[in-house]
Amino acid sequence: MKNFLQYNPTKLYFGEGQVKQISEELEQGQSVLVVFGGGSIKKNGVYDAVMTELETAEATVYELTGVEPNPRLTTVQKGVDLCKENGIDFLLAVGGGSVIDCTKAIAVGAKYSGDPWDLITQKAPIESALPLGTVLTLAATGSEMNMVSVISNWETNDKLGWGSPLVYPRFSVLDPTYTFSVPEHQTVYGIVDSMSHALEHYFHRTENTPMIDGFIESLLRTAIETGPKLVENLDSYEYRETMMYLSTTAFNGTLMNGTDGGDWASHRIEHALSAVYDIPHGGGLAILFPNWIEHVLEDDPSRVKQLAVNVFGISPEGKSDLETAREGAQALRDFWDTLGAPSRLADYDIDDSDFDRIVEKTFIKPGVGTYKQLDKDSVRDILKRSL
Ligand code: NZQ
Ligand code: ZN
Repeated sequence: MKNFLQYNPTKLYFGEGQVKQISEELEQGQSVLVVFGGGSIKKNGVYDAVMTELETAEATVYELTGVEPNPRLTTVQKGVDLCKENGIDFLLAVGGGSVIDCTKAIAVGAKYSGDPWDLITQKAPIESALPLGTVLTLAATGSEMNMVSVISNWETNDKLGWGSPLVYPRFSVLDPTYTFSVPEHQTVYGIVDSMSHALEHYFHRTENTPMIDGFIESLLRTAIETGPKLVENLDSYEYRETMMYLSTTAFNGTLMNGTDGGDWASHRIEHALSAVYDIPHGGGLAILFPNWIEHVLEDDPSRVKQLAVNVFGISPEGKSDLETAREGAQALRDFWDTLGAPSRLADYDIDDSDFDRIVEKTFIKPGVGTYKQLDKDSVRDILKRSL
């Protein structure tokens, strides 16, 4: 194992009715900017529950609505302006990963005099941030308990991940009943994204990590067991709570303990893809990740073989490592297919006409992949396999 620091200051309030904690967490009489998306929280009662808490805390409430899936810099700027104009003390994100990521960018942008894009591109250092809390409504990204955010700039067609310890949420409310209204296709994207986070961590090169590897394998087996049942029973508390805890754990730092952090090339390619085509993140991963796996197992099948045996229960008896690994890659593809996830770029009407641009955007920051360092030809090969 590598030396590591385990640090995560986010308080998680998990379970039905935990929204009540918001009024306990806020100081009385603060100016709070509530950030949310296209309106799902107004239809499922979450908005009303949050407003009741803000009333109890005697907060002065401001709202930023309309955060897009794949949140945009222009919306971040609107939030920053609201903060600066109104002396906001606290940000409350109510929604999925996009709303939370946008709120994190507003938190740092509100404390900076220039263009928030400078902070995201690391042109300027992040020195302070407004405090934020979250009420999660979609189990997928893990943003509710990590220091990461991903923002799209449609002027330049860039989608960039960035992070700072200053944007760990102070608290996050995870009430599984708030995810009952997530439609089937978004639920599937959430399952794919959570599993992809576990897989990114799994593909590391650090020796002697049996505890974390076993933890990741267990998380993946749980997703494989629970995912199909959840898709058949979207309002099951039991399945929703399992996926909610699973998705948070899949990307809150725990799975990096003692390793080199994992590969993350599939995420880099997906972000480049959705910077050009604005497709859902989980949908893009469902297409790309199995093809990344098939690309890497040709050089070294050992890890994919372990995945095949320990997660998908494939017997290695009488087979070469490569054969077992190939069966594992196929099993992942089949599993996501049975959930109804997209499997080809053609599912989003994407052909090879913009591959050059996607490849360039994948390398917007140097170093793509650690388990296997990809060059531009490798990224092009993965995209071609995904057609
Ligand atoms: O906008 P509303 O009306 O709320 O509708 C949303 C949106 O249309 C809807 N939704 C959310 N909760 C709902 C609901 N609909 C009904 N009932 C509910 N309870 O779902 C749609 C998608 O929401 P979004 O927030 O975009 O999804 P997700 O949580 O998957 O977030 C995706 C974004 O997060 C980034 C992705 O790249 C993408 O931009 N990521 C962020 C990460 C992080 N911060 O750690 C890591 C990830 O790898 C990822 O890159
Ligand atoms: Zn992801």
